[in-house]
Amino acid sequence: MPNFLLVGNGAREHAIAEAVCRNPAVRLFAFMSANNPGIASLSKKSKGEVAIGNIHSPEEVARFAKSHKIGLAFPSPDAVLAAGVSDALIAQGIPCAAPTKEASRLEWDKSYARELLRDFRVPGSPKFGIFDNEQEAHSFIDSLGGQVAVKPSGLTGGKGVKVTGFQLKDGIEAKKYSSELLSIRHSGLASIVIEEKLDGEEFSLQAFSDGKKVFGMPLVQDHKRAYEGDIGPNTGGMGSYSDANGLLPFISKEHRDAALSIMQKSIEAFRKKTGKPYLGILYGGFMLTSSGVKLIEYNCRFGDPEAMNALSILTSDLYGIFEQMVQENITHAPTFAKKATVCKYLVPEGYPGKSITDQPLAFNQSALGKIRCARVLRLGL
Ligand code: AMP
Ligand code: GLY
Repeated sequence: MPNFLLVGNGAREHAIAEAVCRNPAVRLFAFMSANNPGIASLSKKSKGEVAIGNIHSPEEVARFAKSHKIGLAFPSPDAVLAAGVSDALIAQGIPCAAPTKEASRLEWDKSYARELLRDFRVPGSPKFGIFDNEQEAHSFIDSLGGQVAVKPSGLTGGKGVKVTGFQLKDGIEAKKYSSELLSIRHSGLASIVIEEKLDGEEFSLQAFSDGKKVFGMPLVQDHKRAYEGDIGPNTGGMGSYSDANGLLPFISKEHRDAALSIMQKSIEAFRKKTGKPYLGILYGGFMLTSSGVKLIEYNCRFGDPEAMNALSILTSDLYGIFEQMVQENITHAPTFAKKATVCKYLVPEGYPGKSITDQPLAFNQSALGKIRCARVLRLGL
């Protein structure tokens, strides 16, 4: 059994490490930017090793991998993929169960993702335009009656998108925000995407892709607004749940199949455009609207916290799936226990604005709320 390398150190990566280590033959090596004691303990137990370094440096990660005779790697966070860590590992002959920099462009360049889907007639996109010119952006906002989502093309840690009726009062504020974005470059990308504002319920569909076929995981709904009753600002995620049947109370099997079919067509489009397979996790953020299932965005990694929901009930061997993924042939659809899951975050006072840090943490059972669930998965602190 080759040594396995995980790059990353969040609660999501702990869930990945836990799932991989259910295979007792795996030796877990982890390259982290800060010590995650959960990952470190799994690594120790499996007779692997951990190192702390710059996870966004392809050279540093590749050097660690080479010196520890890594046979299979999983670089996890979006910025690590965008930095080209998979490419550096592959260049050393180390297979990676995660997308290359080119493939993860589906996430780090929102213009690219929308254009790919448009050019290959993949359904599910809202009306959109891509702009680097202020006046044209403003006219497009007017043409949509000011009801828009304004997005920088590049990565912003999930906090750059603003939508009329939420973070933007009206079309005037949308125009102001689009001008502001055009004056800064996010992750070096100058353009912005303006989309028709969609209304509906959001859901997450994560899938394993071997380049030919996508295999969906149970649907998860992520709750991003802070405070009880979802009345606070958007955050990276406050909690999430999944249902025992793999669907959600508001999503039928037909809706789920429609979302998975958009993802299947997208990996086929990527192959047609580049001649290369999309290998790794593909995660679609979708919205069920009155005109059907629409794609909000792609992520080229597990969701955070959605990974914790799906991986805690994965009954197949995750290491085995990764191995088949890099061989471009997942032979059996991965299986999941028929259980509901809930993930609830406890966050510092002041989050997501100015978090009060380095405080002792005191909580009791009531801090977890009145949730009745199969298992409280993790406290993301
Ligand atoms: P994204 O980073 O593209 O996932 O956008 C962040 C959040 O903005 C999403 O989770 C949605 O809540 C919202 N959003 C993005 N695009 C749209 C849209 N076209 N219509 C309505 N809401 C959107
Ligand atoms: N749960 C949102 C994300 O992982 O981007």
